Amino acid sequence: MDKRIRAEARSLQKELTEHSHRYHVLDDPVISDVEYDRMLARLMEIEERFPELSTPDSPTKRVGAPPLDAFEQARHSLPMLSLDNAFNDGDVRAFHARIVKLTGADTVAYTVEPKLDGVAVELVYEYGLLVRAVTRGDGVTGEVITENIRTIRSVPLKLKTALTPPLLEVRGEIIIKKDGFEKLNRVRMEAGEKLFANPRNAAAGSLRQLDSKITAQRPLDIFVYGVGRTDGLELTGQARMLDQLKEFGFPVNPHIRTCPDVSQVIDAYRELDRLRGTLSYEIDGMVIKVDDMGLQQQLGEKIKSPRWAVAYKFPAVRETTVINDIIVQVGRTGTLTPVAILEPVNVGGVTVSRATLHNEDEIRRKDIRIGDTALIIRSGDVIPKVVKIIPESRTGDEKVFIMPDKCPVCGSDIQRIRQDRSHINKCVNVSCQAQLKERISHFVSKKALDIDGMGKKIVIQLVDEGMLRSYADIFVLQEDRIAALDRMAEKSAANLIAAVNASKTVSLRRFIYALGIDHTGENAAKLISDQFTTIEEVMSLTPEKLEQIHGIGPETAFAVCLFFSNPENVEMVQKILDAGVNVINEKPVSDSGTDHPFSGKRFVLTGTLHTMTRSRAKQQLESLGAKVTSAVSAKTDFLLAGEKAGSKLEKARQLGIDILDETQFLTILKREI
Ligand code: IVH
Repeated sequence: MDKRIRAEARSLQKELTEHSHRYHVLDDPVISDVEYDRMLARLMEIEERFPELSTPDSPTKRVGAPPLDAFEQARHSLPMLSLDNAFNDGDVRAFHARIVKLTGADTVAYTVEPKLDGVAVELVYEYGLLVRAVTRGDGVTGEVITENIRTIRSVPLKLKTALTPPLLEVRGEIIIKKDGFEKLNRVRMEAGEKLFANPRNAAAGSLRQLDSKITAQRPLDIFVYGVGRTDGLELTGQARMLDQLKEFGFPVNPHIRTCPDVSQVIDAYRELDRLRGTLSYEIDGMVIKVDDMGLQQQLGEKIKSPRWAVAYKFPAVRETTVINDIIVQVGRTGTLTPVAILEPVNVGGVTVSRATLHNEDEIRRKDIRIGDTALIIRSGDVIPKVVKIIPESRTGDEKVFIMPDKCPVCGSDIQRIRQDRSHINKCVNVSCQAQLKERISHFVSKKALDIDGMGKKIVIQLVDEGMLRSYADIFVLQEDRIAALDRMAEKSAANLIAAVNASKTVSLRRFIYALGIDHTGENAAKLISDQFTTIEEVMSLTPEKLEQIHGIGPETAFAVCLFFSNPENVEMVQKILDAGVNVINEKPVSDSGTDHPFSGKRFVLTGTLHTMTRSRAKQQLESLGAKVTSAVSAKTDFLLAGEKAGSKLEKARQLGIDILDETQFLTILKREI
């Protein structure tokens, strides 16, 4: 190949990277879009002719790669923690007081940052090159979405530095700006596609695409706010670290401040709240971080969140709008829920068009009528709520809502049942299609049987087609019949069947939860499955026996017994088991009465840990009934090996002892707490 071609490709790659950074990160372009496109077209032409010139960091790699079959999973080398919340100045002062007490510091400087409402990711750079991007996932393990992240123009594919660190894990938030979100939804509406509820959902949905060419068309952006593991960097303070990341070419939020004391932190919060509406992206609070990384390390972390940071949340945003109609939805257990259909209104950057009204009593109490103007609030994840109506806006044309006396879906009778201090209305027909769809959706949901690919839409389709009449039908679904459905292809049908088969081995905890018994959520299902081994055992329990479980109240005990006293439910469970579902108990109850996998085990700890000190690890293990000894022997059950573990690791290997690295250790530790 001509040397000049090689040189031209290199120079185009370099220049385009620089221009892209100026445009997408610095917001300061120096060439026109047309000129940029011309240079990119030329580079693409060269790389197509000479693929060996197409380096992984070439700007041509932003258009997306061939689609994947599934996302791989990867562990974070350090867990991605979440944050505790503060809701008022008092909470922040208490946070500060705790820090002063724990560290003995006279004054503590804080770096404060907007809390971006997006999706957390970790970007891994090895010797300056982006090699992997992983979602936060459960904090320990996430999904590898490297190709999707490459399409985001503001993410550097290569660090802007001559002295590349061997390892840099950068953490940040992927967002979609408000205008990009509105435009995306407009296009989707025109195409008859489902709209995204808010920018965060749109960002999450865009990152979850197996085809990165689709992601490439979404207006994704990033701000980085921290690091995971690093090698070859001297990091001393949060603000200086962010400056360093900025120099490396990452977008860092411009509204970050360092405050010498907690009073200024509170001033900064007021200022940011004022600024909030003018920002082009959604924020839901301010993150307050101890700036000094030495202090951060001294303070350490709790299981889920660091002691050195807190999220000071903004109060809910509110707006008024007109209630155009009130419709009735039928839930999983037949409960009828009135929902207000609103004149679409922008509440803090998100268009809201529905709000739950809970039940008929609530509508009466608040005197909500169709045609009323109402005050709506939206706070974080919570579904919008109608706070009150504005009586001054009444014209006299408002209509009183009347709860239907027949189910709007199946036409069956409605029963009015007392619950707590109000009443609920229930459709009495357990085979009501609306209930069936909701129940099956719950049964296959993430926390239940977790059947990947069986979303609400597919469930509705399968019920409407008569292919699903009960839970057991899920396990005898036929691939060819699914493939023949609208909007289904052979590949997706095969994937669905594979997911169904994978769900056939299910833990007792998930299974109990999946049944959707009244008053029996995740927590109750766990408490019950901790005490009993088989589903048959659970089915024959008396309320007295259930109530003996610490944490199970009379309502749940009664509901569980009532559920299994109904022969139809017993038959339903039997049919599921007959269809090949195997309900297993993840962890047998141990003699000591505590059922943690570490209880009663002998541990040796060695090497450096990053998320806690060894003595803290020892303390936690001992509280679970484990024994920590100093020498590895044949009696040792586990070796916890931190970084730079030496001879003990070697010996444990020779003796065939189970070795846990820090992440594995934390996963198991966390799982049971
Ligand atoms: S720091 C150990 N900084 O909030 C510190 N998080 O509830 C953990 N987030 O999962 C994160 N803006 O997705 C940090 N400036 C910011 C943030 C931020 C948004 C998100 C992040 C995290 C969640 C924690």
